[in-house]
Amino acid sequence: MKDRPLIIAVDGPAAAGKGTLAKALAHHWGLPYLDTGLLYRAVARRMLNAGLDPAGDASYEAGRLEPADLTRTDLRVPEVDRGASLVAAQPAVREALLERQRSFAAATGAVVDGRDIGTVVFPDATVKFFITASPQARALRRHHQLHKDAPLSGGDLAKAVEEITSRDERDSSRDVAPLAQAPDAFCIETDHLSAQEVFAKANAIIVSCLK
Ligand code: DC
Repeated sequence: MKDRPLIIAVDGPAAAGKGTLAKALAHHWGLPYLDTGLLYRAVARRMLNAGLDPAGDASYEAGRLEPADLTRTDLRVPEVDRGASLVAAQPAVREALLERQRSFAAATGAVVDGRDIGTVVFPDATVKFFITASPQARALRRHHQLHKDAPLSGGDLAKAVEEITSRDERDSSRDVAPLAQAPDAFCIETDHLSAQEVFAKANAIIVSCLK
């Protein structure tokens, strides 16, 4: 294990706390961090900007992704949330993005977050996590990420839960590389844990795996 680069896979549904954990782990271990959701978001953005329906064949746009596409400021808006989940269901898009994800981590190791990292992209990752939380907790978190401290009405919460549940459903039921927990992944349920507590749990697992 010592000779292989350290690859930490962090999978799970939307807004479960994957990104927060993955960034903290990357910082702690001095590794680069790859948010693979951004790749699918950038492909969806390209489709929308070209006036195309993200449900249509997006492989051409996936093949043309450039680094600047990943740093756009309009990748976390509702039409891209939906579009990314539609392009992510397309086998040709996933195939076009696979090598990119693997080569990112090949030399240096990395912390990589997504839906299929432990199952498809890095089945031999050093440590795999599956981070999850209830749809309510995730909808609330997503709301606070987008709107800071703005209050959320009961109706808005119900709508946010519905959106997040239907996106999970699409991500989990697609034929290729669905959202799934790898059999050897450590599952952390984050409903009642702070970001620091999630980090502490995950890091203790990594340390014990590296012994
Ligand atoms: O993590 P996120 O919300 O930014 O992901 C955007 C979409 O991309 C989401 O619908 C799931 C999909 N995705 C995927 O299918 N595989 C990944 N490795 C990462 C994201």
